[in-house]
Amino acid sequence: MVQPKNADSKIFSQLRIANGDIKLNHRIILAPLTRNRNVPCIPKDPLEPVRTWCPDEVVVEYYRQRTTEGGLLVSEGINPNQQGGGMPGTPGLWLPEHIAGWKKVVDAVHAKGGYIYCQLWHQGRTTIEHMTGMCTVSPSGVAWNDPEELYPYPVKGCRGEGESLKLADYTSIEMTVDMIKDTISDFCEAARRAVEECGFDGVEVHGANGYLPEQFLSDNTNLRTDHYGGTPQKACNFSLELMEGLAGTVGQQKVAIRLSPFGMYNQIRGTKRMETFTHLCRQLKSRLPNMSYASFIEPRYEQVFSANEKDAFLRSWGLASVDLSIFRKILGSTPFLTAGGWNDTNVRGLVESSQYDAVVMGRWFTSNPDLPQRLLEGRPLRQYERERFYGPFQDRERGYTDYDPWCQNES
Ligand code: PHB
Repeated sequence: MVQPKNADSKIFSQLRIANGDIKLNHRIILAPLTRNRNVPCIPKDPLEPVRTWCPDEVVVEYYRQRTTEGGLLVSEGINPNQQGGGMPGTPGLWLPEHIAGWKKVVDAVHAKGGYIYCQLWHQGRTTIEHMTGMCTVSPSGVAWNDPEELYPYPVKGCRGEGESLKLADYTSIEMTVDMIKDTISDFCEAARRAVEECGFDGVEVHGANGYLPEQFLSDNTNLRTDHYGGTPQKACNFSLELMEGLAGTVGQQKVAIRLSPFGMYNQIRGTKRMETFTHLCRQLKSRLPNMSYASFIEPRYEQVFSANEKDAFLRSWGLASVDLSIFRKILGSTPFLTAGGWNDTNVRGLVESSQYDAVVMGRWFTSNPDLPQRLLEGRPLRQYERERFYGPFQDRERGYTDYDPWCQNES
């Protein structure tokens, strides 16, 4: 359907992020999207299996296509270290090949006048040792609570080659305090490489969707009783120390965080959501007052359950009509981004509502590399192909870089 033109919409007005250092020309932001299209980094020891991947020209082209003058892209999740990764086709940022690949991506985005943040993503308990070659770590050694759920990729280079393994058979180990400090230090070193060596405009911590920081925030995955768990306040300490560490490394105006206070992905079933996330936001506001932005996933957005099932969960928590406004209020002038379920119709009026400063879009940006232009002109959006989202694929370009910009004859 052709929508009305949106030129007068505030979504096409300027927005300053990074404590005013970056002036965006519009407020439609490419979401961090795992697409598993990176190429193997060949290990020095030929007997070692491939455990990490890096961007090549196809990946560069994907980001280039989605760049607009003064627009912001967030990279796919990039692992700060080997222990936090291992998913086929997803990249890291510790090898020279990673750095060289990401520098090419950043240069291509900058050449078109765009901005790009590096999303730092540690999988914690959601990876398995067969993929990383290391033990799997998380706040506590809690077994995967679905005994039948399989790690979604066949393992390589070890016994059971080609098989899918049950996550519950490979429970992560509880991080010692030294491991926590080392992990934060790996994040900081990755952030330094991102900004200083690759030229990224900032870094975004993946604090959502059941990955390591959210595993600390959630009382079903964090059973600790030390400084890092036991109360909603202590459960925030990992994320807060991480954010402070990053701010000390690259400057707080270059540091952002993505959160999903009502998420359930990766078996997150926290029971103290409001207490935990309001404390986290209050502390972030006081410790990093010049943080670049905060990016939130909408309460009703859901990757696994149906809308009705999600509503039932929200009702059972006494949060039937919850929205993100409490976090908006706490964070005040920090740019506030929303993601989850936005499209060409409901995006209109989003900034005018004063609830949000910008929208983060993923699925529609995948099949419409010229999404901001299409929204500006009220052009129809091309349907996305969900089965081409997550690779790896032999034909990497399909469903990735082969979507043309809008043309008159588009069906
Ligand atoms: C996510 O951040 O939600 C996410 C990351 C990696 C995936 C799927 C989802 O493969």
